[in-house]
Amino acid sequence: MDKKYYITTPIYYINDVPHIGHAYTTIAGDIMARYKRLQGYRVFFLTGTDEHGQKVEKAAAAAGIHPREHADLMVNRFIDLWQTLNITHTGFIRTTEERHRKVVEHIFQKVRDKGDIYLGEYEDWYCVPCEGYYTELQLKDGLCPDCGRKPEKLKEESYFFRMSRYTQPLLDLLEQHRDFVMPDIRYNEVASFVKGGLRDLSVSRTSFNWGIKVPSHEKHVVYVWFDALTNYLTGIGFLENDEEFNTFWPCDVHLIGKDILRFHAVYWPSFLMSYGLEPPKHVFAHGWWTRDGQKMSKSMGNVIDPHEVMNTYGVDEFRFFLFREVPFGLDGDFSKQAIVHRINGDLANDFGNLTSRTVTMIGKFLKGKIETPERSGGMDDTVKETTMRLIGEYRKEMDVLAFHKALGNVFEIMAILNKYIDTEAPWKLARENDVRVKTVMFNLWNGIRIAAMLLNPFMPVKSQAIWKALGIGKQIETSNWDEEMGFYTPSDTAAIDKIPPVFPRIEETT
Ligand code: MSP
Repeated sequence: MDKKYYITTPIYYINDVPHIGHAYTTIAGDIMARYKRLQGYRVFFLTGTDEHGQKVEKAAAAAGIHPREHADLMVNRFIDLWQTLNITHTGFIRTTEERHRKVVEHIFQKVRDKGDIYLGEYEDWYCVPCEGYYTELQLKDGLCPDCGRKPEKLKEESYFFRMSRYTQPLLDLLEQHRDFVMPDIRYNEVASFVKGGLRDLSVSRTSFNWGIKVPSHEKHVVYVWFDALTNYLTGIGFLENDEEFNTFWPCDVHLIGKDILRFHAVYWPSFLMSYGLEPPKHVFAHGWWTRDGQKMSKSMGNVIDPHEVMNTYGVDEFRFFLFREVPFGLDGDFSKQAIVHRINGDLANDFGNLTSRTVTMIGKFLKGKIETPERSGGMDDTVKETTMRLIGEYRKEMDVLAFHKALGNVFEIMAILNKYIDTEAPWKLARENDVRVKTVMFNLWNGIRIAAMLLNPFMPVKSQAIWKALGIGKQIETSNWDEEMGFYTPSDTAAIDKIPPVFPRIEETT
């Protein structure tokens, strides 16, 4: 089947409360899932939670409960947030599920049978909070390069994955698929890492219990990343539902943050190649959000709570801001001024005002009915042609997850419509009894309708409200893309009249 699309988010650690970083990746996935659905694709959108590992074991012990109970409590925070954000995932996976244990054991066993996993001994600097080993060279002044704490020298029996065997296959993969890792800067990062040669990777631990046991060697727990990455197979029915699995694998895109690139673009395809499955088509790594120019951290107390932002500014406004403000792939800075600026400028002024002026004039000059144009001239054709061109560009940008540019295209449509209103001055045309007023209102109505549909993946609720204001009773989500992307005379619009503003302005407080 051609028109299928499989997109994933990372599975989130449950020992943290969901913050803007989690929301960011998940909204990005939702935008793509919604966009592809509008294009007629069958979409599988997977998210979930990463529930094994030493940190969870410790947090549960501190709370005096079993790690499973701890996970059952914590997972709800993610489920609730996705509901509030109108996330339309089609699958949710928890690594503590039985179906997942089976898959991890199966893959581990097969890769071991093949000789790619062997038993050895591991010795290096281990950082407990980060659950990671570091070489002497990676340490910064003897401290963990990630969290700055003191690591301990640890030696343990461990299973190893023969990463070294996959240096060449990975180089071939990167060579043949220049867009395997996106955007380009991340591709270069991965390519130079692989070119440096790969060390075998420790894929089991004996220092804690909370995880999936290595088949027939229960003292060992499967390394959390081996366990976690495999979720992308379990989530679409691997070993359980061949029809579904074969439809959706290989995955179209794994969306991740730049910090977990190596796991996804180096280790994961190697595990898959060793097992005998195709690697994903793309791994897209986005940047990180800071707050008012500073790194967010629990200890600084400056972590952004998505609920707070949504309560203050609205769900769709939050979703929109994240992708309008910063090119997807680069780092971005969150500040109240920035979000207020976007809401007042792009949404209230450029889009909201345009819509309410148009709707008011359709009510006043055309008794609330859009009619087929009679006489064109002036900018009429330019408006239509520009809109058509920008739709094409929007699609190109969306297909490569360049959300920022795609939104730029939509706002170019708004810009030309705003210019059109001012130049053509329909209020004057109406006074002069010019039949061209029909043409102008026809073009404005169509342009706004199209812009709203293009914004739908970003702002599912507000874009629908715009359609309602235009007198359209249909749901955007079930409308036909190709039909809606042309200019037409509506046959069944309700009488169009004044509406309360869809995007009220926000008072700026500094
Ligand atoms: N459990 C692993 C992923 C396993 S996927 C097989 C994990 N979880 S996490 O909860 O720590 O992080 C999830 C995602 O949140 C990562 O993609 C990370 O990049 C993202 N972010 C965490 N903080 C962030 C910001 N401040 N800004 C943007 N994204 C950030 O890693």
